[in-house]
Parts: sequence; structure tokens; C-alpha cells
Amino acid sequence: MKASDETLLQSRLQRIVDNLSSAVLLFDTDYRLQYMNPAAEMLFAVSARHMLGQYVGELLFCPAGGAENNLARAVNSGQAITERQLTLPLPDRTTATVDCTMIPLMQESHLPSGVLVEIQQIDRHVRISREEHLLSQQEAARDLIRGLAHEIKNPLGGLRGAAQLLEKELGDAALKEYTQIIIDEADRLQSLVNRMLGPNKLPDLISVNVHTLLERVRNLVLAESVGQVKIVRDYDPSIPEVHVDSDRIIQALLNIVRNAARAIAKVEDGCIELKTRILRQFTIGNIRHRLVVQISIVDNGPGIPEEIIEKLFYPMVTASEGGMGLGLSIAQSLINQHGGLIECSSKPGETRFQVLLPLERPNVEK
Ligand SMILES: Nc1ncnc2c1ncn2[C@@H]1O[C@H](COP(=O)(O)OP(=O)(O)O)[C@@H](O)[C@H]1O
Ligand SMILES: [Mg+2]
Repeated sequence: MKASDETLLQSRLQRIVDNLSSAVLLFDTDYRLQYMNPAAEMLFAVSARHMLGQYVGELLFCPAGGAENNLARAVNSGQAITERQLTLPLPDRTTATVDCTMIPLMQESHLPSGVLVEIQQIDRHVRISREEHLLSQQEAARDLIRGLAHEIKNPLGGLRGAAQLLEKELGDAALKEYTQIIIDEADRLQSLVNRMLGPNKLPDLISVNVHTLLERVRNLVLAESVGQVKIVRDYDPSIPEVHVDSDRIIQALLNIVRNAARAIAKVEDGCIELKTRILRQFTIGNIRHRLVVQISIVDNGPGIPEEIIEKLFYPMVTASEGGMGLGLSIAQSLINQHGGLIECSSKPGETRFQVLLPLERPNVEK
């Protein structure tokens, strides 16, 4: 190989290692650091310049005998060793769950020249499987509702029809009051069931700016609250248009923002924040999307009662007087139809709903 070819190859290799998402560290045979890539700098929140020459034990804290033992094992056996699900303490006192592989580097003389350590953070995977779990839970809830709603719908029609017939046959007008109650209540149930079943027409997809939708929601809630509610915005104007059924997304967002408006009515200086951001290479369920829009709805109200937070997205879960507990269940199913996800976290003084919508054209379910 010519010298110039070799430098070219080296610089190419350097670029590759620099761009890896896993942390790569190189130790010499005294287990002192010779190199760390940018991902490793990020993980340990240090700059490579300051760490070069450091002894491995000062950087990596593996349980059972320390990192140096593991490196020694790899070197002596001449084989790569992988430790899975290690808890790695980080400088900011948090920890990361990682898979760690130690690869001995051998010279042509078969003498070791160092050890390469590759660290892959797996917290992300944990997060993804949690999301999958959330999605399947939401799907199960939706199936249950739809099944139940269909079962209620048919007898309800019969009930109402029979009451109408009965009403015609009744001579006594005073008795019609009762048949009217049956009819009115049947209508009320019918509209409830219809809401639970959701829209039964095909979605009407258009390309639209998310901020147009958010502004509609904001204006509606401001109008409803006759100026009692404060809604601030933090929009990222560079977000490309989404391809969605705008009525459905507005409905979903409205259900979330209305809850927030009701929550902050109970506190002084209540405020709702609407925030948009773009996330790159983001996985929802098991689908990796190049771009995802993140819409956050944050309020500083009293927070969601602990006893309902786990089942928040199930229908009929409510902690509000006169509430039907349908708002979030409907919102979640509308967002799911667009391949998206709603997440929620809440503590007193900060309740955060995040709507994640993939940016590429979704396969919207009917
Ligand atoms: N931003 C929020 N702050 C506090 N509690 C909330 C918030 N959003 C939702 N909740 C709680 O979640 C429950 C369920 O909401 P939802 O599904 O919209 O049903 P509903 O509004 O009919 O009660 C509400 O009753 C409320 O207790
Ligand atoms: Mg509601």
C-alpha cells in the first residue's frame, strides 16, 4: 500500500469511528486510555484531551473486580468479552444501562497491543419496548371499547323504536312523559356510543401546518374560557407540513388542551404551553421514522391524580365531576390512527402531554 493510500484509509477509518453512535475507547497494554470517540466523550461528558493517559479504573466502573480485570481477561484469552446490561455510573451521578464489549487487539507477533472497548447504551431499547407495550395496551383498550359500543348500539335502536311505538298507542298524555324519558336517554346513550366508536367515515388527509391546527385549538379554548386561560406558544416554524386528517388531529389536541384548561382553573397564575419540535430518527412502536413532530401540551395545574394516571387513556376514567372520561381515550385512538403516540407525565405543578406524529405520509387506518 502506498503511503498516501494508507493515510486516506486512516482518515476514512477515523471518520467512521468518529461517527459511530456507540462509544469506542482504546486502551494500551497498561490499560491507559489512548483514544475515545465523540460518542464516548458524550457518554462520559468529558473531553478526550483531558482523559488521554488515564487508567481504565478511573473511567469505567464495572462490578465484580473492576474494569481492569475484565480487560485482562479479554487480553489473556485473546477473545472478545461482552458484558450485558451493565449499570454504568456516569459523572453526573446518573447511570446508564449498557452492553460493553472488550476486544483484545493483537499484533502480528500475537502479542497484545491494546484493548478496544465498545459501549452501547441500551436504555433506548428499554424505552422502545415500553412504548410498544403502551401501544399494545392502547390497542387492546380500543378493541374493547369498539366491541362494547357495537354491542350496545343494536339493542339501543330496538329500545328506542319500541318506546316510540308505545308512545303512539298510549291514550294518556301523562304517560308519554315516561316514554319520552326512554327515548331521550336512548339518544344520549346513542351519542355516547357514537363518540366511543369514533368517526365512521374515511379519513380526509390533507397536507397542513401543525401550527395552523394548534392555533385553531388555542382559539377555541380561549373563546370557551372567555379570556380566563393563558396559553403561550413555543413553535418551531421550520417544521414541515404533516399529512393528516385535520379534523381528527384538532379533536385530539382539543381534548388534551381542554383538560389542561380545566386543570389550571384551580390554580393561581395558571398557564398552558403549546410547544412543537422536530425529532430525528425516532421510533414509535417498532417503526423507525426519519422525522417525527413532537407537540407538547404542558400545564402548571395540580397534576393528574395518582390513582388514575396508569389507566388515563382508558375510557370512563375520570376524576372530574360530570366528566365522561372519554376525551383522552378518543384523543389517543385518533392519534394512533395516524401512526402516532400520546405520552403523559404528571406531577403537581407540571402535567405534560406529548403527541408524537410521524412526518412521512402515514397509512391512516379506517
Ligand atoms: N392536564 C391535566 N391536569 C390534571 N388532570 C388531568 C389533566 N388531563 C386529564 N386529567 C385527568 O384525567 C381525567 C380523564 O380525562 P378525559 O379522558 O379527558 O376525561 P374527562 O375530561 O371527561 O374526565 C380527567 O378527569 C382528569 O382528572
Ligand atoms: Mg376531558
